[in-house]
This record gives sequence, C-alpha cells and structure tokens, in this order.
Amino acid sequence: METTLSSLLCISLNILLSSLVISASQSQTQKCGSQTLTNLYTNCNDLPFLNAYLHYTYDPIKSSLSLAFTAPPSTPNGWVAWAINPTGRGMIGSQSLVAFKDSRGMFTVKTYNITSYVLKESNVWFDVKNATAEESNGVTRLFATIVLPEKGKTDLNLVWQVGASVTNGVPDQHAFLPSNLASKIAINLLQGSATVDSTTTNKNIHGILNAVSWGMLFPVGIIVARYLRTFPSADPAWFYLHVACQVSAYIIGVAGWGTGLKLGSESKGVTHTYHRNIGIALFCLATVQICALFLRPKKDHHYRLYWNIYHHVMGYLILILSIINVFKGLHILSPEKKWKSTYIGILGTLGSIAVLLELITRVVVHRRKSSKSSTPNAFDGYVNS
Ligand SMILES: *[C@@H]1O[C@H](CO)[C@@H](O)[C@H](O)[C@H]1NC(C)=O
Ligand SMILES: *[C@@H]1O[C@H](CO)[C@@H](O)[C@H](O)[C@H]1NC(C)=O
Repeated sequence: METTLSSLLCISLNILLSSLVISASQSQTQKCGSQTLTNLYTNCNDLPFLNAYLHYTYDPIKSSLSLAFTAPPSTPNGWVAWAINPTGRGMIGSQSLVAFKDSRGMFTVKTYNITSYVLKESNVWFDVKNATAEESNGVTRLFATIVLPEKGKTDLNLVWQVGASVTNGVPDQHAFLPSNLASKIAINLLQGSATVDSTTTNKNIHGILNAVSWGMLFPVGIIVARYLRTFPSADPAWFYLHVACQVSAYIIGVAGWGTGLKLGSESKGVTHTYHRNIGIALFCLATVQICALFLRPKKDHHYRLYWNIYHHVMGYLILILSIINVFKGLHILSPEKKWKSTYIGILGTLGSIAVLLELITRVVVHRRKSSKSSTPNAFDGYVNS
C-alpha cells in the first residue's frame, strides 16, 4: 500500500509540474479581444499591457490605416488613448487619439501632440479622416481612419494609455504603475506583428523563471521531503527527489535572480527596494542551504538533530520569503489578472495536497505506532531522516 501511495504521489507531482509547463507555454500564444472586430480588420495585436488590443487594416498605396483600439479605462468616466510616436519611443512626442465621454456623456475623440503632461488639443502628425468611440462591457472602443504623412514608413512606435478622469474636457494624468509606464511597442504595419520592447520580454522571463523556481519547485521539494519519507518504501527515493527538486529550483532561481539584477541595473530611477532586498536575501539563504548539505552529519551523529532543526527552519524561511517575493514581483510587473489567479491556484493546489498528505501520514504513523509500538517513528523528522 505504501509503495502504491508513494508512486501515486510522484506521478501526481509530475502531472502537476508538466501541466504547469504546458499552461505556461500555452498562455504565451496570443489571442485577440473581440471576434467581431477580428473579422472586420486584417490584423490584430494583443497589446502586452493594460488589457488593450489593436485591430487594424493598412493600405500601403494610400498609406491609410483603419484601426480599432480597445481598452478598459481606469474608471467608467476615464479615458483611453492610442498614439504613434514618430520621433521617440515614450509618451513625449506621441501623436495621440484620446477617447472619453464629454459633459453630456457622449463619446468624443480628440487629438493631442503631446509635448508635456499638460495636454492641449492640436493637430497631429497624421491626418485624421474620421474618429469615433463607443463602449462595450466596460471597454472603450476607439475607431479611426488615419493617413500617415510618410509613404512607406511602416515601422512605427506605438504608445497607449488609460486614465481615470477628465476635467473640463481635458484628460487628467494617468497613473504611474509599471504597466502604465511600459505600454509601448514597436510594430511593423505590413508584418502585423508587434515586437515587444526587449525589456518587457526580459521582465517576463525574469517573472517566469522565478515564479517556477522559488514559487513552485521549491515548495514541491519541501512537500516531497516532509511527506514521502513517512513511507519506508520511499526511502531513499524521497531524498534524491528532494535534492533534485531543490537543486533544480536553485539553478533556475539563480538564473532568474541574475535577470532580476540585470533589470535592476537597467531601470534607472525606478527601484523596487523590497523586491530587490528579499531577492538578495533569498539568494544568500538558498546558497547557504545548498552548502549546508555537504556539512550534514551522519544519521546517528550527536549533532544531526541540530542540523535538522537548522535545515527545517531555514527551509520554511526561504519558502515564506519566496512566496512573498513572487507576489511582490507580480505587483511590480502587473501582468494580466489571470497570471496572479493562476499562481494563487497553484499555491492553493499545493496547499491542499500538503494538508491531505499531512492527514494521510498522521493516520499511517498512528497505525504503525499502535500495531507495533516498538517501531521507531519514521515521521519524527528531527530524529530520523
Ligand atoms: C508637436 O509639438 C512640437 C513641440 O511644440 C513641435 O515641434 C512639433 O512640430 C509638433 N508636431 C506636430 C505634428 O504638430
Ligand atoms: C471613415 O472614413 C472612411 C474614408 O473616408 C470611410 O470609408 C469609413 O466608412 C469611415 N468610417 C466611419 C466609422 O465613419
């Protein structure tokens, strides 16, 4: 029975891990917002921030661009903006179309040549043939047909934004969350594909590496060690499985940590102090933990008890800090909501598995004790492991 149980555990852990990898790779594939709009335009881009989409049809002969930009404004009375920046990559210099409701509650689209945070309606770099906006389920849809002044200029820098309020017909400043600051891409109108800013890609890689290593593999390794070793038949398999989990978590984690340091050195002016300090602390603690493995006293050695206490305390400390830092990272990166929900779901699943195993092992240990009271208690981790 114990062999079956422990192999079932290994199998379910494997299934869990592979489904994680599969779902992570699937969610990389882009899917576009509204099917109706997708049918009306030849291209659709799932913009990487602020839940925005861009549908468009480009006519290279007339150099005209018909587009539908959709995004949920920060509040129902807020605004959404879509812009081309012909001179740079950020907000300053953006030639913008901004949609919001006027004082009568009717949608209006205005154009702004953005030179500072103070907006003044003006002409823009491109010619606006028509521009309208509407609302659908809390999402503002901005439709426009524009003519680009330079024929053959198909590589464009796009910027988009959402805001919470409009005062006297002028959109108020947007929030300064990381997703508000990151909402820009370079696009080739003919290819239709957006090339996300390399920093954005690096941030996503950093997020995935760290969430998988510190946030998932590491807790799985702890579950393996804590529960599998109750079963004599899983000895020494649990030990190797535990070491394999934690060493691979450490290797992936160090890679993720490295990308974090690089991102930190590249982002001038923006410092995420807590996230960085917890990250550095985690790296140090985990390194010490791995090194301590080589100093592990033999099973019957007098000091083994102390080593075990130390190892467990350190392990749980790393576990708590890892989870906190994954959430801090999710807050900083502010990706689509589904990522946070996915991670909470995974933690919930791991937590439930741990509770279930805790119950099973307690029952097993209890039975073992009552059937043969002289048998040493294999679950008493501080003494036997
Ligand atoms: C936008 O404003 C800047 C600064 O005032 C000016 O140099 C530029 O020519 C303007 N662009 C357009 C298209 O009007
Ligand atoms: C916008 O203008 C273009 C060209 O003038 C026209 O074909 C199109 O139907 C117009 N779209 C809307 C929504 O009015």
